Amino acid sequence: MKIIEVKDYSEMSQKAAEYIIEKVCQNPKIKLGLATGGTPVGTYKKLIEDHQKNRTSYQNVTTFNLDEYIGLSGENKNSYRYFMDEQLFNHIDINKQNTNIPRGDSKDIEEECQRYEELLAKYGGIDLQILGIGSNGHIGFNEPGTNFTSQTHVIELAPSTINANARYFNRIEEVPTKAVTMGISTIMKSKEILLLVSGETKKQAMSKLLNGNVTESFPASVLKNHPYVTIIADKAAVSGLMIHSE
Ligand code: PGA
Repeated sequence: MKIIEVKDYSEMSQKAAEYIIEKVCQNPKIKLGLATGGTPVGTYKKLIEDHQKNRTSYQNVTTFNLDEYIGLSGENKNSYRYFMDEQLFNHIDINKQNTNIPRGDSKDIEEECQRYEELLAKYGGIDLQILGIGSNGHIGFNEPGTNFTSQTHVIELAPSTINANARYFNRIEEVPTKAVTMGISTIMKSKEILLLVSGETKKQAMSKLLNGNVTESFPASVLKNHPYVTIIADKAAVSGLMIHSE
């Protein structure tokens, strides 16, 4: 894992956007894995700014998002489909048909998991996966205890995840308790991974990631087994941590 330490959220967003733009320019047909949550919002803003200024094109890019809440349709403001449209897709020249997110309102959710996994395989997998990390070490919505061999699946959200995400909802009771998420093995099949981390609330998770063992009780630790991971983390998330990484 290569770690790039930056000053703050703004610098993390800038660096991450530059990283992604370079990859898109190198390979205009790149398959990007995308994440939601607070962390990548600044990065998406920078991608939009660059698109407007430098005309970086996403016309031939295909995207796959990590996860979606079960029970929310794409029109629901709290769905990740809505988030992605608002935060990125509506503002760049991507073909919406090339943007893939699990359908959280699918009638047969098991079938939807299988469809998503097969779709990823059909496209030959993800070239660059953007990831955030939960304070409990989750990646995607793979909560602690998720099997490292898991493919796209249904997950019961951990209480800490529901608490963390309640800020987007009117009341905590409205936060869905289940989600569809790419599995750990799905994520690990990505050719390259870019993990973005910002803020004091992630420091403990970063400490575990950098210094702890590879264990299913801390899902992000699996990234140590991946050959091509870059972490862009700000000072608040990593300063003072003993960094034992390659
Ligand atoms: P956050 O979420 O970016 O909102 O902190 C990260 C995650 O839960 O993976």
